[in-house]
Amino acid sequence: MPDRAKVAVLISGTGTNMAALLYASRAEDCPYELVLVASNNPEAPGLRLAEAEGVATFALPHRGMSRAGHDAAIDAALREHGAEYVALAGYMRILTPEFVARWEGRMLNIHPSLLPKYKGLHTHGQALERGDTHAGCSVHLVTAELDDGPVLGQTPVAVLPGDTPDSLAARVLIAEHQLYPRVLAAHVRRERDPLWLVAQVRERALAQPETDETTSHGMPCFGVIGGKKFAYVATNHHGDGRTALLVKISGADEQAQLIENDPRSYYRPAYFGDAWIGIRLDLGDTDWDAIERWLNRSWRSVAPKKLTRLLEAAEEF
Ligand code: GRF
Repeated sequence: MPDRAKVAVLISGTGTNMAALLYASRAEDCPYELVLVASNNPEAPGLRLAEAEGVATFALPHRGMSRAGHDAAIDAALREHGAEYVALAGYMRILTPEFVARWEGRMLNIHPSLLPKYKGLHTHGQALERGDTHAGCSVHLVTAELDDGPVLGQTPVAVLPGDTPDSLAARVLIAEHQLYPRVLAAHVRRERDPLWLVAQVRERALAQPETDETTSHGMPCFGVIGGKKFAYVATNHHGDGRTALLVKISGADEQAQLIENDPRSYYRPAYFGDAWIGIRLDLGDTDWDAIERWLNRSWRSVAPKKLTRLLEAAEEF
């Protein structure tokens, strides 16, 4: 399958979740592939397995290194292998806010509890002590707070009479192995789904003042109310299979420059002329802050002076 999302997995131990992600990726319709398994523990058994399965590995002991230095080295390895997403699977390291920020929205973790219950360690013992009927596991996006990001998926696992933390952990692990590949696949698919991509643009386009949405030639289109258009989203325009944002630019020179510098992301939109640029949204590595800046710039170029002046005054204030 062309264009699978590239995923790196970080492990510290056994790596059974990594193995589950790896073998799920062997399915023909799996939307991701593993490009790297990295660890802070060179002895992690998961590294041997990854190697044997032909996945690149990287090990760097953290002892003697600063946290920032270790994270930076891991980050460099991730980029070198072209990772677009990071899956933490039993990676027993607290990450620096810089590392987390670099992978915002693209780093997932699996945690053995039904979050927000029982963050941190010893989750199963706590579930038993509390007399919970169900333990379980969660996959969540990683944010700066430990085990705290938005939950993407969960599986409850029934507690059985006589369960110990170990017996419960073993059953939760089975659920983890089912949950993680499914949620990761859905997450990477979402970023290539035209409806989701249009919704991301919509949210940012309609945040510009006095703006509304219409449809033009079947494309969602954003403009100043009663005024000019500043953005279109092309979804499979003329059957090209692409999802892209079209925004205004300064003209032919800028258009040529953008395309020359990054022909993967930028293209000249057919029938729009020199004053517009097409920006691919479906490559899996869209920088949404940059898209927001493009939209704002495009909006400014068509908005009536009285609106932009108001905005500038407010910004100075
Ligand atoms: C799993 O229980 C996972 O939920 C937690 O660490 C454990 C890793 O196990 N974050 P494994 O290395 O994937 O076997």
